[in-house]
Amino acid sequence: MIARAYTVAFQGVEAKLIEVQCSLAPGIPAFNMVGLPDKAVSESKERVRAAITAMGLALPAKRITINLSPADLLKEGSHFDLPIAMSLLAAMDIIPKEEAARHVFLGELSLDGTLVPVVGALPAAMAAAEADFGLICPKNCGPEAAWVGGAVQVIAPNSMLELVNHFNGRKVLSASEPGEVHTEVSTRDLRDVKGQEKAKRAMEIAAAGRHHFFMIGEPGAGKSMLAARLPGILPPLDPAEALETSMIHSLAGLLKEGGISRTRPFRTPHHTASMAAIVGGGRNAKPGEISLAHNGVLFLDEFPEFARAVLETLRQPIETGDVVVARANAHVRYPCKFMLLAAANPCRCGFLTDPERACARVPLCGDEYLARISGPLMDRFDIKIEIPPVAVSDLSQPPATEGSADIAFRVAQAREIQRERFADHKGISTNSDAEGALLETIAEPTTEGRKLLGDMAQHFRMSARAYHRILRVCRTIADLEGERIVQRHHIAESVSYRFYRESASGRAKLG
Ligand SMILES: Nc1ncnc2c1ncn2[C@@H]1O[C@H](COP(=O)(O)OP(=O)(O)O)[C@@H](O)[C@H]1O
Ligand SMILES: [Mg+2]
Repeated sequence: MIARAYTVAFQGVEAKLIEVQCSLAPGIPAFNMVGLPDKAVSESKERVRAAITAMGLALPAKRITINLSPADLLKEGSHFDLPIAMSLLAAMDIIPKEEAARHVFLGELSLDGTLVPVVGALPAAMAAAEADFGLICPKNCGPEAAWVGGAVQVIAPNSMLELVNHFNGRKVLSASEPGEVHTEVSTRDLRDVKGQEKAKRAMEIAAAGRHHFFMIGEPGAGKSMLAARLPGILPPLDPAEALETSMIHSLAGLLKEGGISRTRPFRTPHHTASMAAIVGGGRNAKPGEISLAHNGVLFLDEFPEFARAVLETLRQPIETGDVVVARANAHVRYPCKFMLLAAANPCRCGFLTDPERACARVPLCGDEYLARISGPLMDRFDIKIEIPPVAVSDLSQPPATEGSADIAFRVAQAREIQRERFADHKGISTNSDAEGALLETIAEPTTEGRKLLGDMAQHFRMSARAYHRILRVCRTIADLEGERIVQRHHIAESVSYRFYRESASGRAKLG
């Protein structure tokens, strides 16, 4: 007779239900596994054998066959140990067959039968809830899985022996409680940044409308310093966003003690990071930095230093909010709706704009350096500013009266206006998501505003994308002021966040 237990296989953030069947047949003793297991899953045979022996049980002298169904889905990861062991124990009548068949199991076994934590407990619990099953996972994963709520009972034993005793009613375990919700308070305040008023204002607008933001300026101007203070002015994640983000962090094993964070992610990969690290995928499919930044910020410092191929692959995810990674036999989709924050020096030596310190190759070196960033990628930034060096007189000034808390308050208010505006539009939460006809309706300027915008568009030969980006930014500037209609001065300010430079060849370009 066949015994069944359930588990999941991960495809992106989705957990697909997998049935683990175990049959014991007469014949020469053997232990076989079929159903597209990868290397780690094949190895689980040895761990299951050792863990069962450690419990003082002997494997039956029969042909043991384990089938992972559906067979066409690649099974990856070490969490298959526990479901395999449980289907086998059910086939051996050590635990009741009906118990094994109404749970989703997740867990790696060590040779002595203890359960080792695995990634993905939260999405697995979601899949269990959908199938109306209970979830069994290692002790440390319990608080994370329990976030799914009352629909699914989560039991998190320490070892396989504890689980067997639980199923047999010898020592029943209590269900796991959800981990804590934590909000990290940023200790870095924008008050520490002296001067740079324009940059602070631009960052406030970017944060309010989730606009992609590009800063360029000499080394030491305070770009990294400003960027580090962005998390302090962003509103916390709402519960639905927190769950979405946590699903991805669960797959990457990043949830601290099973707690869910209400703080927006702020990811800062180094410029030497590989394509797989940034975009996701690789041999053992994992979400990349862009997905870990989902609902938060992806900060790419020293932007032109990133590998060109890596930068160009960002273009499509920026537009669609998700990334599809091709694997050998499947396509995996991860969500990645992030705010891109980039900082760059103006050239290699960094002193392009300072005649006294600039190298001999000025201005060619600046053009070459920024040419590493393609036009279409540059076009995706809604706000671009040049950050001048801080004046010495600014440095000796007392700290600004306005700090991150004041700015965060205005940002939160502007986000609230946007939330109400887009309440009936699925998938749109901020002005930066608005497109086409919707954008034109919500950002309809006054007659003088329209004239100014038209003149600017003609003068700078703006692309349609640039034109729409300006409209989005104006909408956010008006929201920060609580204005319903986009006015002329909103447009003027918005145009000032797209920089204008003379290239070496003498052509004027609006970035
Ligand atoms: N506007 C500023 N106000 C106060 N300190 C500043 C400012 N700009 C730069 N600094 C100082 O200079 C250091 C370097 O700044 P940083 O942000 O790393 O520059 P960048 O990233 O532009 O090269 C900071 O750690 C800070 O001590
Ligand atoms: Mg820096």
